[in-house]
Amino acid sequence: MNEVEPRIRCFPEPATPPELRVQVVELQDQAWPLPEPAEGVAAIGPSHDPALRPLSMLLVDDDGVVVAALDILAKELAHTGGHFAVGGLSTVVTRPAARGQGHGRRLVAAAREEMLAGGFDLGLFTCDRPLRAFYEQAGWEVLPGAVLIGGTRAAPFRSDRPGFDKVTMASFFSADAIRARASFEHCDIELYPGEIDKLW
Ligand SMILES: CC(C)(COP(=O)(O)OP(=O)(O)OC[C@H]1O[C@@H](n2cnc3c(N)ncnc32)[C@H](O)[C@@H]1OP(=O)(O)O)[C@@H](O)C(=O)NCCC(=O)NCCS
Repeated sequence: MNEVEPRIRCFPEPATPPELRVQVVELQDQAWPLPEPAEGVAAIGPSHDPALRPLSMLLVDDDGVVVAALDILAKELAHTGGHFAVGGLSTVVTRPAARGQGHGRRLVAAAREEMLAGGFDLGLFTCDRPLRAFYEQAGWEVLPGAVLIGGTRAAPFRSDRPGFDKVTMASFFSADAIRARASFEHCDIELYPGEIDKLW
């Protein structure tokens, strides 16, 4: 039997069709349960800060089931005298019943291609150390010694805070970013994506 591969679909988060968006929110809620879900909160409201221009990438099967999802967030970064258009991966999740079949890897590889095509200078995000190989298999690289400073300038949220075991992953796209690559290693990267997407 020929199984049809789920299709990749992309939408700005607020423009995601409701029948897909509701599934994405469900997957996110399962993966990152809120301590106390607020009553009456709009069930399919935005997950991300609109200022970060969230682009949702979904793997959707023939029956309209969202198999995996992630969001690309975007921001300008000032770093060691340069200015870079940075994209980050956020809320990467595969439907529990569909894990271990390569869907996640396919989607995070596609997100890297999307960032490259979308004119970003580089992609940058953190992940839990055990997921390093998962992202590496999809073309992302570890930035040795790099610490992402999330949150805000007034209330910074470091990726090396006690109790966290994060690695910083990256991919360099533009000539400027490739030239500046060494300046992103073994240093703090002051990203400050805000209060909502603290480490994006
Ligand atoms: C992480 C996650 C998205 C992976 O999705 P998936 O579709 O199961 O991943 P794939 O099938 O493409 O796996 C690709 C590879 O990564 C490895 N991998 C997947 N999940 C892993 C995990 N949680 N820890 C370590 N390795 C993992 C797989 O073993 C596989 O390697 P292999 O081909 O050598 O066996 C999924 O487990 C998930 O939704 N987890 C909960 C949310 C989460 O933690 N998201 C990541 C936030 S940074």
